[in-house]
Amino acid sequence: MLRGLRHEARVKWLRTARKKCRSLNAVEIEEAISALAEQPFDAQEFPFAFLEAFGNKPTTIKRLRSGVSNKSDLGGVLQTNNIHIATCQPGEATKTLAALKASPASTKAKARFVLATDGVDFEAEDLESDDPPVACAYRDFPDHFGLFLPLAGITTVKQVRESSFDIRATSRLNRLYVELLEDNPEWGTAERRHDMNHFMARLIFCFFAQRTDIFIGDDLFTATIEQMSARDSSNTHEVIGELFHAMNTKIENRAAANIPRWADAFPYVNGELFSGSIDVPHFSRIARSYLLHIGGLDWTKINPDIFGSMIQAVAEDEERGALGMHYTSVPNILKVLNPLFLDDLRARLREAADNPRTLLNLRKRISRIRVFDPACGSGNFLVIAYKEMRAIEAEINKRRGEADRRTDIPLTNFRGIELRDFPAEVARLALIIAEFQCDVLYRGQKEALQDFLPLDAQNWITCGNALRLDWLSICPPTGTGVKLHSDDLFNTPLDQAQIDFENEGGETYICGNPPYRGSKWQDEGQKADLARAWSEHPQLAKTTDFVSGWIAAYLKYARSVPDAIAAFVATNSICQGQQASEIWPVVTRQGREIRFAHTPFTWKNLASHNAGVTVIIVGLGPRSSRSKRLFGDDGLVRECEVIGPYLVPNMPDTITKANRPLGPQSTMLFGNMPRDGGHLFLTTQEARQLRRNSATNSYVRRFLGSDELINGKLRFCLWIEDGEAEAARTDALIAERLALVADNRRRSPAESTRAFADLPHRFVQIAGTARKSAIVVPRVSSENRDYLPVDLVTGDCIIGDRNFALYDAPLWNMALIVSRLHWVWIGTVCVRMRTDFSYSNTLGWNTFPVPLLTEKNRSDLNRSTENILIARERHFPCTIAELYDAKVMPDDLRESHRQNDEVVERIYFGRRMKNDTDRLESLFALYRKAVA
Ligand SMILES: C[S@@+](CC[C@H](N)C(=O)[O-])C[C@H]1O[C@@H](n2cnc3c(N)ncnc32)[C@H](O)[C@@H]1O
Repeated sequence: MLRGLRHEARVKWLRTARKKCRSLNAVEIEEAISALAEQPFDAQEFPFAFLEAFGNKPTTIKRLRSGVSNKSDLGGVLQTNNIHIATCQPGEATKTLAALKASPASTKAKARFVLATDGVDFEAEDLESDDPPVACAYRDFPDHFGLFLPLAGITTVKQVRESSFDIRATSRLNRLYVELLEDNPEWGTAERRHDMNHFMARLIFCFFAQRTDIFIGDDLFTATIEQMSARDSSNTHEVIGELFHAMNTKIENRAAANIPRWADAFPYVNGELFSGSIDVPHFSRIARSYLLHIGGLDWTKINPDIFGSMIQAVAEDEERGALGMHYTSVPNILKVLNPLFLDDLRARLREAADNPRTLLNLRKRISRIRVFDPACGSGNFLVIAYKEMRAIEAEINKRRGEADRRTDIPLTNFRGIELRDFPAEVARLALIIAEFQCDVLYRGQKEALQDFLPLDAQNWITCGNALRLDWLSICPPTGTGVKLHSDDLFNTPLDQAQIDFENEGGETYICGNPPYRGSKWQDEGQKADLARAWSEHPQLAKTTDFVSGWIAAYLKYARSVPDAIAAFVATNSICQGQQASEIWPVVTRQGREIRFAHTPFTWKNLASHNAGVTVIIVGLGPRSSRSKRLFGDDGLVRECEVIGPYLVPNMPDTITKANRPLGPQSTMLFGNMPRDGGHLFLTTQEARQLRRNSATNSYVRRFLGSDELINGKLRFCLWIEDGEAEAARTDALIAERLALVADNRRRSPAESTRAFADLPHRFVQIAGTARKSAIVVPRVSSENRDYLPVDLVTGDCIIGDRNFALYDAPLWNMALIVSRLHWVWIGTVCVRMRTDFSYSNTLGWNTFPVPLLTEKNRSDLNRSTENILIARERHFPCTIAELYDAKVMPDDLRESHRQNDEVVERIYFGRRMKNDTDRLESLFALYRKAVA
């Protein structure tokens, strides 16, 4: 257990985390090292406690303690590849850090970090980063915990290191939330969840307000609670209730409302935040102490975008374990917002230079822009959009000599829909905080305070289902009032607030990161939502990802607001395979197009050892002749006329499944599917036994699934032709196996399997076998190879259904399949599962453009394939996996592939292609010709 944890609850919580063998996430680590910093300094124990706080297992610590794995040459603790820590005499931290850096052992063990402390001063450095070393008071070292997150397998981005406050506040609020729910279980029920969420939002506001002089007096909120509530916490809820009551009562009504004198110091806040029930949950002593402690944090440092996304996890039972570690980083949000409209505003600002008139026009334009996120979570896209627009406006004001001018950008122009209650609450709060922070930054504290209270009573974040609500009612076209709904459009009484957009006549930008879920994983509710969104194209609801619902809703919305432009983060699957060929023609038919896009990139977050999901960004707008921008992960931007459904420049076509090859290539079939409960398979020993017997020898075949193909594993199966079944049964082992297969199939829930219970000697689905040879292609393979891992096997092998096969096909087919051209085609038109290619014969092979091949072409390709096979042979017994590992691929094999590419590309195009984009563009052009 982590050393120095004081509170029972914390101990319990962390112990549970450990029991689950989960790697610690950033919040947990922050919590553990904060606890460590609060303990009296123990020079001997510190290095181990520090490493433990970063999730090192007890066995690892034990080995370091015993010296077995401790490589330090300075009497400290040196963990290979990680960190060299030394504690020292008072006043010697700087000297010790220098010694750690210079230590040969640090170099030899490739220590990434060095850390020295005497319990008063703390110094550390990341030797692999350009960031300056940390030098701070020992008690403050948790402020820098982000620096060390790589120790826990968490790759940090700079921004996260700068978000220590948000992580810390999340962890403290989480503790309070859990504690309150433990003491007030009824507040966790569906009926009271909203009250609980609203209560937390009020608290967060008060913590922020007391640190930013919105409340006048030192930590007024927590100081009042500390003073006025009993130490045993029995009346804490009443005291808080009185404060909330005051904040909901206008100053002139205070006397009549019997507000106690000690609560009178609080301003009137309302803005719906303090209206309604002022019920407060009961506080235990621990909860009270948590609350007072949280108030002591420096809430001026809050980043409303990051904090909001983190804190929302607190209210979700299943998310709490990850504590907001899946939040969207600001650079990723800017990948959406910059091309959507911010880049353009900045360009106009540059053009305007110091021209007061042009600057004024730009300011007017900005003040009319509406930003709408229909899956806004805790409002991070809206907050960033707001902050960036304020920055541009501030620059305009500066150039116009009006630096402390009040903003013209109304918060009401930032709107969102969010399904869950707590994030919706937090989104609104986050926007309010962002507005205040921007006012302080650009106009000054005094001016910010003047305008801040009371809060605006309008609610621009709607808690509801974006696929059921009419977006027009939340973000209406210019000139219309806004009806806000708290729930389903059709079930909600229309007696809600109506809010007009301020500054009529502006542009509308829709943005966000709506939820993704493949069609197989959608629950009934989501399926129904999607069906409703795609009501005019029911087929799409069946096959596409849940995120496509937001595209459908945008298309509907754009009929009324034709200029609206939208940009969504989405799973890359909507621009691949069947989904791409279904969704994008509908978009095109409605006069819309991809205005800009970001090719697939990994959406990493703060979860430890996180692989991330692969996403794209698509920006949609009315068709226009303007050039489109395609952003690559390499930072390059391509300008083009059209961005096609596969995010390929100037390739508007979609590829549709074909049952037969479009060109002269051979037919590719599925492998064979046994559906046998595993009973037709033999151990090597059993196979040997049957093979030794001439009567049963012919029933044993080598079986090739994808693992066998790629990793060279040996596997055998029984393969008995229909006419041989009786004879085969005379062998006891075979008879026993066939009985097991029959039994297994009889019990199958699938009718199609049960139908084969009486034919247990055979596979259920037999697509084909070869006489002489088969070219075998795995259905799924890693994209981290430069070529598809294809092989040629002898005809007696049985190809399993994890592969595709070309039986007795001419060898030149293989030259095409292993070519870079084909790799690029498959990577584009077929589906990718995370970082894997999912091969498809109908979508990838049959559609692959193959020109008419002359005899010479064929024999060149045959020879080229043979050269590859010979190169492989030279490295026998290396497996395909070993040979095609991009990092260690043998030079001669790579050369044979290079030559093959040369041969293929010269046949196709008469030249070597410049790069993969060149390949794709040329292939699409061929495809267009082939289908024409
Ligand atoms: C991937 S998150 C993005 C949220 C936020 N922008 C972020 O980056 O953290 C998707 C959000 O959509 C919300 N959501 C899911 N289904 C929804 C629906 N049908 N209508 C509105 N919001 C929905 C989820 O609750 C979640 O907050």
